[in-house]
Amino acid sequence: MSERGCFLTFEGPDGSGKSTQARRLADRLRAEGLTAVQVREPGGTSTGELIRALVQHTPSQEGLCSEAEILLFAASRAQLTRQVILPALDSGAWVVCDRYADSTAVYQGFGRGADLEAIVAINRVATVGIEPDATFLIDVSVPEGQRRLAARRAESDATYDRMEGQDIAFHERVRDGYRVWAGRHPERIFTIDGEREADAVEQDVWALARKKLL
Ligand code: TYD
Repeated sequence: MSERGCFLTFEGPDGSGKSTQARRLADRLRAEGLTAVQVREPGGTSTGELIRALVQHTPSQEGLCSEAEILLFAASRAQLTRQVILPALDSGAWVVCDRYADSTAVYQGFGRGADLEAIVAINRVATVGIEPDATFLIDVSVPEGQRRLAARRAESDATYDRMEGQDIAFHERVRDGYRVWAGRHPERIFTIDGEREADAVEQDVWALARKKLL
């Protein structure tokens, strides 16, 4: 039996650059000779990718209600946890996940104002009770996050998805919500200043992740 792997997650507002950091961390872990599995939420399984398309591109006027949104994110999470994350950890691989249960607490709880206690209970089912060993919160201000999203859109011709297209007040609640949530989980969630160059952010992430290697 191999030793259980480590489960690391990235969180942050839209435009925080956490997806780049998730990729860089997985690469670094592989360079250390470890097996690293990189996944993202929502998605990461074929069922999850279908759910991703649903939650991201159902126009708000078609009325995906907040409860349905929470349960769809949770369904994607349950499938990813059972199908990919748990088997990988059990085989000794490290798992790097771009967003996990904290995203629902923050986006739907703080952002949309849904019942946080209910979300925590739903997350307990969706995660099969597992928790990340460490979570890196890449923190950026709303104007900086929005500026980066606009630049990315201009480059790729892509449109804003449903969540990204929310008003500024929503994004402010998400950013502040992350800070409050991190304050409630100081032993697990590490806040990193994401307004710096990607290399500087990567160094901070690596310094924290390395502690799990020792
Ligand atoms: P994604 O394209 O992955 O955004 P990013 O690259 O910024 O992470 O889209 C995920 C979007 O879904 C993002 O706006 C956050 C939102 N989301 C929730 O609202 N709740 C959740 O539980 C999860 C996992 C994501």
